[in-house]
Amino acid sequence: MTIDPAKDAAGRAAAALVRPGMRLGLGTGSTVDRFLVALAARDLDVAGVPTSQATQRRCTELGIALLDPAEVDRLDLVVDGADELTRDLVLTKGGGGALLREKVVATMGERFVVIATLDKLVPRLGDTFAVPVEVVPFALHPVRRELEREGLTAVERTAAADVPYRTDNGNAILDVRLDGGLLDPELADTWLTMLPGVVTSGIFVDLATEALLGRPDGTVESLSRPDR
Ligand code: A5P
Repeated sequence: MTIDPAKDAAGRAAAALVRPGMRLGLGTGSTVDRFLVALAARDLDVAGVPTSQATQRRCTELGIALLDPAEVDRLDLVVDGADELTRDLVLTKGGGGALLREKVVATMGERFVVIATLDKLVPRLGDTFAVPVEVVPFALHPVRRELEREGLTAVERTAAADVPYRTDNGNAILDVRLDGGLLDPELADTWLTMLPGVVTSGIFVDLATEALLGRPDGTVESLSRPDR
């Protein structure tokens, strides 16, 4: 397997933040995979809440102890990837379909560090990446019609040709394109999540506290939310 040096650099930088005894939030995706590998190599006494079945399986392989959300009130540090982010640390997530558990775990964190490659930093969200929206299957068609009435394009995610994608929670995903990008991410998130049948959106506002963005040369740029 080829290792992307930019993802590896971001993952290692996040693993260096972990201290013995910490309770962690463990995100999902290929950048988080580099974090998990670097974390396991440190062999610390830590445990984490995984945000997907894939991360749960990977932690078991790597020997990272797992926690259930019911066993912990707050997490010291959440580390997760992003599909796009802006300098004020608003994110879109859910390319890997784990957005719901990722958002639940993000809200449990004292500190939420995003790890990504620097090319995911964009001036405005939604220009290149469609916003994932998790929907209960029963409501898929009514929700899609509602989005289309607002002039949005919503495409149901598939696992393979003619096989609908299902999240770890048994839900469908609509990938929603917003012409001209996300002008007001907070409003868009609120509006989307108020539609009956929508479980959550992949827009993460006021959750990330820092970002570690890897470059191909192995260096890392860090960002902090201005109000933190
Ligand atoms: C999973 O649902 C996503 O939110 C991922 O965190 C996001 O897609 C980033 O993944 P990569 O690190 O693989 O790009």
